Amino acid sequence: MAGRRAPVTVVILAAGQGTRMRSKTIKLLHPVAGRPMVARLLDSVQALRPRKIVTVVGYQAEQVTEALADYSCSFALQKKQLGTGHAVLQAAKSIAAGPNSTLLVLNGDMPTLRPATLRRLLARHAKSGAALTLMTAQADDPTGYGRIVRDAEGHVARIVEQADATRAERAIQEINCGIYCARASLMLDALKRVKPNNSQGEYYITDAARALIERGEKVAAVAHSDTDELLGVNTRAELTRASKELYRRKAEELQTAGVTLLDPSRTWVEPQVRIGRDSVIYPDVILEGDTTLGQDCVVRSGSRVTDCKVGNHVEIKDHSVLISSRVGNGAEIGPFAHLRPGSTLGPKSRVGNFVELKKTTLGHGSKASHLAYLGDATIGPNCNIGAGTITCNYDGTHKHPTVLDSNVFIGSDTQLVAPVKVRKGAYVAAGTTVTEDVPAGALAIGRARQKNVKGWVARRNRK
Ligand code: UD1
Ligand code: CA
Repeated sequence: MAGRRAPVTVVILAAGQGTRMRSKTIKLLHPVAGRPMVARLLDSVQALRPRKIVTVVGYQAEQVTEALADYSCSFALQKKQLGTGHAVLQAAKSIAAGPNSTLLVLNGDMPTLRPATLRRLLARHAKSGAALTLMTAQADDPTGYGRIVRDAEGHVARIVEQADATRAERAIQEINCGIYCARASLMLDALKRVKPNNSQGEYYITDAARALIERGEKVAAVAHSDTDELLGVNTRAELTRASKELYRRKAEELQTAGVTLLDPSRTWVEPQVRIGRDSVIYPDVILEGDTTLGQDCVVRSGSRVTDCKVGNHVEIKDHSVLISSRVGNGAEIGPFAHLRPGSTLGPKSRVGNFVELKKTTLGHGSKASHLAYLGDATIGPNCNIGAGTITCNYDGTHKHPTVLDSNVFIGSDTQLVAPVKVRKGAYVAAGTTVTEDVPAGALAIGRARQKNVKGWVARRNRK
């Protein structure tokens, strides 16, 4: 992407444990639509192209840092979680504090925040000339949020936390969303003046508002109407709500782009997944991770596709599982097929009922239609793999490869004891255990010869 970076430093607060989740894992690493919630927030922040992103970590800092390794952000450590105001100050060294630099502080628990909303806030802040611009919303149920207290003229006077609020203040429905846009140097100075005089004994970022006003600075508020977007996730119930919101948005985006979803409320497509037009997705399908699906594909109910590249005109029938694999144009998969990591299906190939592939390549037009296990196999074009074929790829210690050239025919109930090669155009008779390479054009047959014992049934019945 070209273009200038916005002259903004973004600080993301991600040091708190999140006790209301009742989890051994820090709240911010709980996945929302498949990615840690703080990573979802970073997706939106990166879309702004800010000059710098600093994430403040503390509780399980190592895990958080690792989960965000792919993002272009630096980290500041908050050793003790003494509050949101204290957290921002831990990043002070990394914040450009020139007279005109802008600081955007975000709570880490807002996975559904949109980049457009942040852009709007930044624009309003630049225009208003305020020292601090807050994002606020009218909540039907403001429980748990900080309330915006306004003075007689309707200007923001301060923010009061739920735990410190009077009854009258608790009735205020205008809430603080945890998004703060400020003139960096003024904000840092104000935060240094904040005292932990509250019921939790913490340094609140929200008290910077009053500290600024006391020095004659202006604090502005930008109201936002979509409260689903500003949800701060504190509990498991809110975690589910946030995921549902992202799946809902993705479904809408896909429908707009020409994808049919039979029931969007029962389709789980993660935000980063791409699907070509005229593809049809049946209910109860999960498309996740780094997955791309081409045009004119059909994915039927109960299937999951994780980290796969799927071409055009591919049909994935019911209850199939595809993981870290590639599928060529016009291939047919399932029902009840399992592509394990490292598998590649050539164009117009077919993998049918109860067929499992692992690190296996199936060539152009080749078919394994029923009941097979193909592991560590390289199968050329136009091969037919009969029902019940098994690659015996594991000797108890090591895995071994199986190679089939083009136009090979494997009869039903064949065992291919690897390492083994079946050369071009060869046939393997049904029921054969292949332990030696089969030359091109040969027939391999290895099974006990059948004997018919005449009159045997009648003799047995006489006994
Ligand atoms: C905060 C706001 C509240 C607002 C709400 C919006 C304060 C004091 N209150 O409350 O006004 O309505 O968000 O969702 O800021 N964190 C740290 N270090 C700490 C404490 C917290 O990094 O010492 C991080 C957390 O990991 C989290 C974020 O700051 O990502 C907010 O903390 P949280 O405990 O969720 O604040 P709320 O009680 O929701
Ligand atoms: Ca919160």
